[in-house]
Amino acid sequence: MNKNIVLVGFMGAGKSLVSSKLENLADLRRLSTDDIIEQKENRKISDIFGDSGEPYFRKVERDVVAEVSQQDGLVIDCGGGVVLDDDNIRHLKKNGTVFYLFANPDVIYGRIKDETHRPLLQIDDPQAKIVELLEARKSRYELADHIIDTNNMSVDEVCEEIMKLMKK
Ligand code: S3P
Repeated sequence: MNKNIVLVGFMGAGKSLVSSKLENLADLRRLSTDDIIEQKENRKISDIFGDSGEPYFRKVERDVVAEVSQQDGLVIDCGGGVVLDDDNIRHLKKNGTVFYLFANPDVIYGRIKDETHRPLLQIDDPQAKIVELLEARKSRYELADHIIDTNNMSVDEVCEEIMKLMKK
């Protein structure tokens, strides 16, 4: 069995870039929980939040995580809130190694400030929200098997570190 690589972390932590790169490096297939949710619902995440609310989004997200966790040979780019649910973590760890890509609030803000597709940060003071959510979720992200401090690392370096840890 080819164990899955599972990437968790806050919005803007680099999960998409790292997972795309790993797909080629590790001969794994990349899946993004957000992409699958949008395909299933045939609408953007911001519309799901806006029209149906966050609890509905989390329910769809749970179903998607349960489905993808049954497959192997994947690198899974998880939405930033996937770790909030115990069942999600249990499913993802069943045949995957979970990596938390950590980044400081200022680094995250720098990466997301010009983007508009994340409903939780489309507010007056996204910087304060990042600090608040990151702190509130800290213990959940730290349930990962490995924590990678990406603040001073390039995408290539993060991938190398993940590959090294997967071989151990
Ligand atoms: C969320 C993160 C987003 C997306 C949704 C909610 C979160 O994914 O799932 O907007 O709660 O942190 P990314 O981390 O890929 O931006």
